[in-house]
Amino acid sequence: MALLEIKDLHTFFDTKKGTVKAVNGVSYSVDAGKTLGVVGESGSGKSVSAMSILRLLDNNGRVDSGEIIFDGKNIQDCTKKEMYKIRGNDISVIFQEPMTSLNPVFTIERQLSEPFIIHQGMKKKEARKKVVEMLAAVKIPNPESVAKQYPHQLSGGMRQRVMIAIALACQPKLLIADEPTTALDVTIQAQILKLMNELKKEKGTSILFITHDLGVINEMADDVAVMYCGQVVEMAPARKIFTKQKYSHPYTEGLMESIPRLDTPTGVRLEAIPGAVPHPLDLPKGCKFAPRCKYATDKCREEEPALVKIEENHQIRCFYPDKEMRKDGK
Ligand SMILES: Nc1ncnc2c1ncn2[C@@H]1O[C@H](COP(=O)(O)OP(=O)(O)OP(=O)(O)O)[C@@H](O)[C@H]1O
Ligand code: SF4
Ligand SMILES: [Mg+2]
Repeated sequence: MALLEIKDLHTFFDTKKGTVKAVNGVSYSVDAGKTLGVVGESGSGKSVSAMSILRLLDNNGRVDSGEIIFDGKNIQDCTKKEMYKIRGNDISVIFQEPMTSLNPVFTIERQLSEPFIIHQGMKKKEARKKVVEMLAAVKIPNPESVAKQYPHQLSGGMRQRVMIAIALACQPKLLIADEPTTALDVTIQAQILKLMNELKKEKGTSILFITHDLGVINEMADDVAVMYCGQVVEMAPARKIFTKQKYSHPYTEGLMESIPRLDTPTGVRLEAIPGAVPHPLDLPKGCKFAPRCKYATDKCREEEPALVKIEENHQIRCFYPDKEMRKDGK
C-alpha cells in the first residue's frame, strides 16, 4: 500500500525571465516499508518535487496543481501548524551536506536533546541518555564522547550519521534522503547506505531516495522513478530497470550505459547521452528528450508522449518503449 502518493504534481517558480515549470506533471508513489529511488540528471526536478511534499519551497515557488496524499491525507489541505507537526513527527529529511543542517555553535548532545526536551517534555538527563542511544543506533563509535563534540570536530561521514540519527529520532514513517552520500567518499558512502538499509528493515521506515547515481539506486531502491525535465519518464520496480528486458525509456538506457561515469563532477557531459539538459525556460516542443535521443523521429519532435502503462508496474513516457521497435522501426 502506498504511504505517499504524488499525483500530477506541478510546481512552478516565478522568475523575472518567466515561469520555471520545475515539476511538470509528476506522479509517483512510495509504498509502506519500501524505498523509492528517484534518479535523473541535475535540474530534472528531483529535489523540488520532494520539497513540494514538505512545503519547503523557495519563496518564489508554488505548487500550482496536483495532489500529495500522505498516509491517506491530502497534504495540500493541511494547515501550517499541521504541516509543522508532520515535518517533526512523520516525515524527516536528510540533505547532501550535513554541515548546513547542523548548528556549528552547539554540541551534538545539545542539538539532539533539544527536540526531546521541547516536544516530549523529557528531563535534560533523560534526553542526554536518549542522545547517546541514538548515536549508538547509527553505529557511531564512542557515542558518549562524540555527543560532547561540535559538528566541525566530526568527519563528513560522522556528521551524516548524526543527521540520520536526528532524522530517525522521531521514528518517522517516511525518510526523504536527498543525495545523502554524494559528498562522501566511496567507502563511507557504502557504510551509510548499508546503515540506512538496516534501519529501514528494523523500523519499517519508507524511504524516498534521491540521487543522480543509478549505481546507488541499485543498492537501495525497491522501485525506481526516472526523471527528466520535471517529468517522470519511467517508473518500475528496480529489478525491471536493472535487468535486460523488452521495454525501457531511451533516457534510462543512456543512464545505464553511463553508470561507471556518473561519479564525475556535476556538469561533466555523460558520454552515453549526448548534449545537455535543456534550459527550463526553453524546453523543446514534443518529447523533451528528443534533441538528445538517438531514436527520435519527426513525431517525437512534434508531439509529446504521455506516461503510459506498458505492463504491470511499469510505465514509460516514450512513443517507442519496445527496444526492438526502436532498432527496427527507424
Ligand atoms: N527558486 C527557484 N527559482 C527558479 N528556479 C528554480 C528554483 N529552485 C529550483 N529551480 C529550478 O527547478 C529545476 C529543478 O530543480 P531541482 O533542484 O529539483 O533539480 P534536481 O533534479 O534536484 O537537480 P540536482 O541533481 O542538481 O540536485 C531546475 O531547473 C532549477 O533551476
Ligand atoms: S518519444 Fe522519441 S525522442 Fe522521446 S524518448 Fe521516445 S524515441 Fe526518444
Ligand atoms: Mg537536487
